[in-house]
Amino acid sequence: MAIVYSRKDRTFTIHTENTTYQMQVDPYGFLLHLYYGRRTRGCMEFLLNYGDRGFSGTPGNSTPSRQYSMDFLPQELPTSGTGDYRSPAVIIENSDGSDACDFRFVKYEIRKGKYGLDGLPAVYASQDEAETLEITLEDAVTHVRARLLYGVLPEYDIITRALILENRGEGRIYVEKAQSAVLDFVSGDYDFITFHGRHTMERNFLRTPVAETAQVISSRRGMSSHQHNCAAILCEHSANEDSGKAYALVHVYSGGFKCEAEKDQFNNTRFQMGLMDEKLRYPLDNGESFTVPEVIMSYSSDGLTRLSQNIQDCIREHICRGKFKLTPRPVLVNSWEASYFNFTGDVLVELAEQAHQTGVEMLVMDDGWFGSRENDRQGLGDWTPNEEKLGGTLGQLVQRINDIGMKFGIWVEPEAVNEYSDLYREHPDWAMKIPGRDPVRARDQLILDLSRKDVVDYLYECMKNILDSANIEYVKWDYNRNIADVFSLKTKDQGRVLYDYMLGLYDLLERLNRNYPNVMIEGCSGGGGRFDAGMLYYTPQIWCSDNSDAIDRLRIQYGTSFFYPISSVGSHVSVIPNEQNGRVTPLETRALVAMAGSFGYEFSFTKISDEERKKIGDQVNIYKKYAPLIHGGRYFRLTSPFEDPFTAWEFAARDESEALVCVVMNEVHGNNPTRYVRIKGLEAGAMYYEETTQGTYPATVLAEVGLKLPVEMGEYHAYMYHLVKVSN
Ligand code: GLA
Repeated sequence: MAIVYSRKDRTFTIHTENTTYQMQVDPYGFLLHLYYGRRTRGCMEFLLNYGDRGFSGTPGNSTPSRQYSMDFLPQELPTSGTGDYRSPAVIIENSDGSDACDFRFVKYEIRKGKYGLDGLPAVYASQDEAETLEITLEDAVTHVRARLLYGVLPEYDIITRALILENRGEGRIYVEKAQSAVLDFVSGDYDFITFHGRHTMERNFLRTPVAETAQVISSRRGMSSHQHNCAAILCEHSANEDSGKAYALVHVYSGGFKCEAEKDQFNNTRFQMGLMDEKLRYPLDNGESFTVPEVIMSYSSDGLTRLSQNIQDCIREHICRGKFKLTPRPVLVNSWEASYFNFTGDVLVELAEQAHQTGVEMLVMDDGWFGSRENDRQGLGDWTPNEEKLGGTLGQLVQRINDIGMKFGIWVEPEAVNEYSDLYREHPDWAMKIPGRDPVRARDQLILDLSRKDVVDYLYECMKNILDSANIEYVKWDYNRNIADVFSLKTKDQGRVLYDYMLGLYDLLERLNRNYPNVMIEGCSGGGGRFDAGMLYYTPQIWCSDNSDAIDRLRIQYGTSFFYPISSVGSHVSVIPNEQNGRVTPLETRALVAMAGSFGYEFSFTKISDEERKKIGDQVNIYKKYAPLIHGGRYFRLTSPFEDPFTAWEFAARDESEALVCVVMNEVHGNNPTRYVRIKGLEAGAMYYEETTQGTYPATVLAEVGLKLPVEMGEYHAYMYHLVKVSN
């Protein structure tokens, strides 16, 4: 049993293979958090400290004691109005206008299998792989209930949390803040690792000590955002890739979020993740409930690599779905950086023909194929193929591509509309705008109101018509702006709109997944602006960044790897000088970096030399050969692109039989010292043969000292080493 209730101590203990999580119902019915860390047993109540603390209040109903206060006790679901002045997980506006909420224990249930969440993405598992613990708390005055859901996947060292708030009282209440995961620690020496960025430079690693102030990362953009990824780590100061205690929280949601790390006056640390509370005011009448999105948690006492592997494996195998989740994806060529809006059917056929000769398997027709879409100021919303431009129907074009032996993929951006479009002229009320105000435009587009079912139904029909009209095997689902005008004509409660928008989007994607199981959807949002575990439930791969420069990508993909599996990372080779930053890098380097993901090309094959064409053919073969290892192996970050002169990473077979090590030199200097790359994930004591250097090496020495790297003139050289275990 992964979940154990002790009647004697009133503790709930959750065990995974290497971790233990414990909470306790205290004498007053509060659900306290006792422990999350390395696997252990016993009751951890002894960790609690009761002291006479000035200005810390005692909640009503508890024995009057100046030594008992929610202001310092570690809790599972801190709320406002109990005397805890730290940041609460839940704020509810009651029908009398107050915000007091005093949740006490009512009941619990332990069941086999993993809970699911209506209308929201969540980790899934078979009955034998997981268990669920549901604990119900209630406020005795308002009769609002909190159902805390814990899902356990013992083999993965994963515990998930979600929360359902139910109004069982008379009047209407409003949910104003809702975080489903809170970790209260009785110590205060942690670092907060977060991933910040911007369009074309997502997920930069940032590590700061948690101080006596709330550190917050969030998105108020209606999407998880380029600016902060919705996942974070709390770790001890000394933790590194290979050792030390570290905790991860990963939001399984694609809308706004808030993650806080706060050290309090008594050196306790609160780490929590959940919905963005600004613009949240979700109404609940009697009998209604609100489901707070899930958060995936993991703990590692063996450092950050292990923590990342736990999360990556969970997302790859228990978030991603469908027939593509574990299969290598087709190598593709995308028309965007090849020709932007400037293409015809013939241009695409020629691109497909040339790419096919190198072994590329799929052509993706990007933006510009529909309505009046000749540039990004018009046509969005009109999902009718521009037959004049394509030289026939969409079906005919796809047939021409298929005849070459290539699969066909298509770009769409269903959630947005240009004002210059037939759709907007017909349904101006479907776009999110605040009546009487000029809307905020971004990329000359507005967002459609997906909180409305009629809009979602319409978009489903549009997508259905496209997918039914041709043999389309892949869809790139884009989303190129943030929501600014939060307003829906369908409701008076604008505080529900952003959440309902996400339910609408998920409903649309769910219907497409269900009815088109042979079509793979790739997520995208100006590159990686919506790279999150919520989207990965519907789209097992996401275009990682609009920045395709290999050297910037080292940082972007390094940051992405802390939580997301390699199979989820869309990455392509593009032209030099790079179109986002002008950098020039060798073709080999661009390919090596793009191979750390779902691989493809994004340039015009007509403009390349024969030598480059030959190299591309070799690259495609190498990728196809190693794709099972790249996607199915264990991923190791060997160095950091933020700190080290070379960036190295590795895919190691789970049975330690082989490993692929990739290295990019990001700095050269005069009289360069010799560098060694230390290799991980090999069988200690075994010998490995490496193909490029044609040497046989002891794994122990490769781990202790490393493999010697060449000293070469020139910038940005890349090296790939394939190690195979030899029998002793
Ligand atoms: C976004 C995407 C790009 C491309 C363009 C098309 O920026 O991230 O890859 O599809 O839109 O308009």
